[in-house]
Amino acid sequence: MNRFDGKSVIVTGAASGFGTAIAEKFAAEGAHVVVADIDAKGAAAVAERLPSAMPFTIDVADEEQNLAMAAAAVAAYGKIDVMCANAGVPHRGSYMLKMKVADFDRMFAINVRSIFLAAQACVPHMPEGTSSLISTASIGGKRPRPGLTPYNASKAAAINLTRGFAAEMAPRIRVNCVCPVSAATNFDFQTMGKQALSPELEQKVLDSIPMGRRATPQDVANAYAYLASDEASFLTGVCLDVDGGRSIQ
Ligand SMILES: NC(=O)c1ccc[n+]([C@@H]2O[C@H](COP(=O)([O-])OP(=O)(O)OC[C@H]3O[C@@H](n4cnc5c(N)ncnc54)[C@H](O)[C@@H]3O)[C@@H](O)[C@H]2O)c1
Repeated sequence: MNRFDGKSVIVTGAASGFGTAIAEKFAAEGAHVVVADIDAKGAAAVAERLPSAMPFTIDVADEEQNLAMAAAAVAAYGKIDVMCANAGVPHRGSYMLKMKVADFDRMFAINVRSIFLAAQACVPHMPEGTSSLISTASIGGKRPRPGLTPYNASKAAAINLTRGFAAEMAPRIRVNCVCPVSAATNFDFQTMGKQALSPELEQKVLDSIPMGRRATPQDVANAYAYLASDEASFLTGVCLDVDGGRSIQ
């Protein structure tokens, strides 16, 4: 008996990084997974190798597309047990005064409006008492440092939305989020325009994390699976740090 046998799970941003690991984790524990991403090819490739999954192409900032995603999940699997609002984007680092207003608005739409839209689209299809909505915020949303200020502000909004919405939805549906520290995903490329951190920056990042390494997609997927599981049935409004102790300091 797996923890998520027969459960219907949507994961956005599932074509890469954390989202792929989250989709794989739920699938490995028995769930049917909607592999949702703006990257249609990437979503199809991930869905193809999971035992029970369907790809779905979505811009998470778009209302109609969120409604269509929820409808597709219900048509395929009859309900939505876990909504994982993981898709998100950073911006080029050290950038606030140079950032274009349109880029700021687009980033907030992808990182914050998406959670609001996913909730509106999915909650009506989520069984009461056993379902949960989980999103990916960031430890930068609690403990910002220079360099990613508008991004960190969007994640602070995601954290606050999680806590407020959890209070609104209890006891019907649990609402939680995860707050990862830096991880080597495609995110690095988007913040720096390079695939890997320079050795100096890598060391600076490691020095700030007491556990001595960056997060992995599996760390984040494990936290999602725990928050969605019955073992976490009393947890709502939790913003779980997956940060190797980074926020202690
Ligand atoms: N990697 C890190 O250091 C880190 C740390 C903390 C939080 N996060 C957050 O984790 C989440 C996942 O990021 P990641 O590190 O896996 O990055 P990633 O770039 O590897 O994956 C992000 C995925 O989201 C998809 N996406 C982007 N815009 C989208 C849109 N409008 N609609 C649908 N899909 C879209 C991308 O196509 C990609 O597949 C994001 O919310 C990010 O802000 C990342």
